[in-house]
This record gives sequence, C-alpha cells and structure tokens, in this order.
Amino acid sequence: MRILVTGGAGFIASHIVDRLIAEQHEVCIVDNLSTGKQENINPAAIFYNLDIRSEHVLEVFEDFNPQIVIHHAAQISVAHSVSDPSLDASININGTINILDCCYKTGVRKIIYASSAAVYGYPEELPVEESAKLSPLSPYGLSKLTPEFYIQLYSNLHGLKYTILRYSNAYGERQDPRGEGGVISIFLDNLLTQKEIQIHGDGTQTRDFIYVKDIVNANIAALTKGENCIVNISTQTEISVKELFEMMCKILEIDASPKYMDERVGDIKYSSLSNRQARSILGWTSQFTLYQGLKETINYYQNICV
Ligand SMILES: NC(=O)c1ccc[n+]([C@@H]2O[C@H](COP(=O)([O-])OP(=O)(O)OC[C@H]3O[C@@H](n4cnc5c(N)ncnc54)[C@H](O)[C@@H]3O)[C@@H](O)[C@H]2O)c1
Repeated sequence: MRILVTGGAGFIASHIVDRLIAEQHEVCIVDNLSTGKQENINPAAIFYNLDIRSEHVLEVFEDFNPQIVIHHAAQISVAHSVSDPSLDASININGTINILDCCYKTGVRKIIYASSAAVYGYPEELPVEESAKLSPLSPYGLSKLTPEFYIQLYSNLHGLKYTILRYSNAYGERQDPRGEGGVISIFLDNLLTQKEIQIHGDGTQTRDFIYVKDIVNANIAALTKGENCIVNISTQTEISVKELFEMMCKILEIDASPKYMDERVGDIKYSSLSNRQARSILGWTSQFTLYQGLKETINYYQNICV
C-alpha cells in the first residue's frame, strides 16, 4: 500500500515507518524535524521536510497519492501547551484539519490518528474505558481530543475511514529524554550518566507504560481493522514510578536511590487504560511486558552510549 506517515522522523512514527517498509509498503514521510531527527528517517521512505500546516502538503498528497495516512506529527509537550496554547492548537488542531482536507481532496481511504490518554483527564474508574468521560487537564489533552471530533466529522461528511488509537505512556528506543521525554527515557538518561533521579511525590503514583513495538503492532493492525473505531492502546497494567525505578536499576545492575520531591500539582495519581477493545476490535495484544520492553530499550541506550 502507499502510506503517508506524518511525524515519521519522531520517536513513535519512525518505528512505524521502519515496519511498514519491512513489510514492503511504499512510505512517504511529512515532518518538519521540529523534534524529529534526520537519523530516524528510514532511507527507503520518501521524505518531505514540511510543516503539516503548510499549503504545500496538498502537493505531496497529489504526488504520492496515499491510500492510508498515519498521522503522528504533533506538538507533544504538555508544558509548552500550557505556556503557548495557541501554537499547540495551531499544530495539533489546524495541522490535523489540513491533513484531513488533503485526505478528502485526494481520495485517501483511511486515516489512523495517534491520540492520547491525555484526552481523559482524572480517571473516575480504572482501567479507563474508551467510553469514559473526556475531560482533558491541559491544552495538549484538548488539542489531541479536538482532532478526534474533526476526524469523525470528515468521516460523516466525506466517507473518510478512520481508526483513532489512544496511547497510554509510550517508551522505547529513540525517545528523546530532553524534550518532553517520558519518565522512562529521563530515568534512563540520568542513570546512564550518573545524574540524580528525581521522583515527584512518594513514588506510589502509577502509570501504564506501553512499549513502542506494541504501538507499531497496533498501527499495523489498524491498516486493515478497526474501521471507524476509537481504541486504547495500553498494557492495562499499573506500575508505580518507584517500582519502575527499581526495575530499571535491577536491569542496569545499579544501586541508586531517587530523590523524592514535592508532588506536582495536577498530576494524576493512578493511571491505566483498558485494552479490551484493542483485543476484540484490532485482535491486538501487548506482546512485551514492561521488563522485556525495558531490557530492549536499555540495551539500545547502552549501545549508543559506548
Ligand atoms: N510519547 C507518548 O507517550 C505519546 C502518548 C500518547 C500519544 N502520543 C502521540 O504520538 C504522536 C507521536 O509522539 P512521539 O512521542 O513520537 O513524539 P515526537 O516529538 O518524537 O514525534 C512528533 C513528530 O512530529 C513532528 N512534528 C511536530 N510538529 C510538526 C509540524 N508542525 N509539522 C510537521 N511535523 C511536525 C516532529 O518533528 C516529530 O518528528 C504524537 O501525536 C503524540 O501526541 C505520544
């Protein structure tokens, strides 16, 4: 298939591109390299260094004529979304509308959209089902949620098919610890460079960490399944930040202690997404335990650090 991937120079979508190319798909990437990296770009993909809000994106769609679009380009920093909500909305909302317009104008069959657990806000029940209340706590959460409605509207108006994947906390190779890196990439970077590890609160807060290769599998499943569905992609397993830290130290064979800081205002205490729908609709299951995913990720970082 001809598949256009936005954000394909970034952490998650570069892994998706690699897999699509390994499976003999023709791939075109649109990415402005704002957080993405040239070295993540698979050389077998056609690459356009372009902002998803640009009017030139339509020319790319006309040239490449994709059948499927996998949309991952986004402003992903919660902190930046709070300090500059207009820019966040411009990229995540207006950028997605531009991509949807291009899909409609060039007859794209389906869009797969990377959404986030951030659309839910404080969970009322765990694990959070897709039908739970949508009440984002940050401009980022809202700018990831709003495109979901645009996508459904384009589907109703123009027949564009979609699968919306709401990821829990992602981790894995190529995640940048400097930007809005997830806690795992930040811990790992600090542990490998012998910097202090800071944990906000008492470390009993829990998260549901999903390995990037599991996310890739979900996107591959969504190429042919999950038509017009919204699906969480998660392990449905809670682990505390303290336990995570201990597991990472064990794999690294490091004896370290974290520094406990004040709790951050607004932080969610317990988080886990139900993956029941992903299993039944996409036939997808998480293949990697946190321990396995961490081992692969740690191996990767140890190899690039030597
Ligand atoms: N990392 C997570 O834990 C997580 C969780 C839930 C959802 N997501 C979603 O997954 C997607 C990918 O996230 P990631 O962690 O790989 O982030 P990332 O920053 O590594 O990737 C985003 C990519 O989009 C590109 N980009 C940003 N703004 C752009 C613009 N205006 N025009 C063109 N390209 C632009 C960046 O250069 C980068 O390559 C995002 O949509 C994010 O909201 C991520």
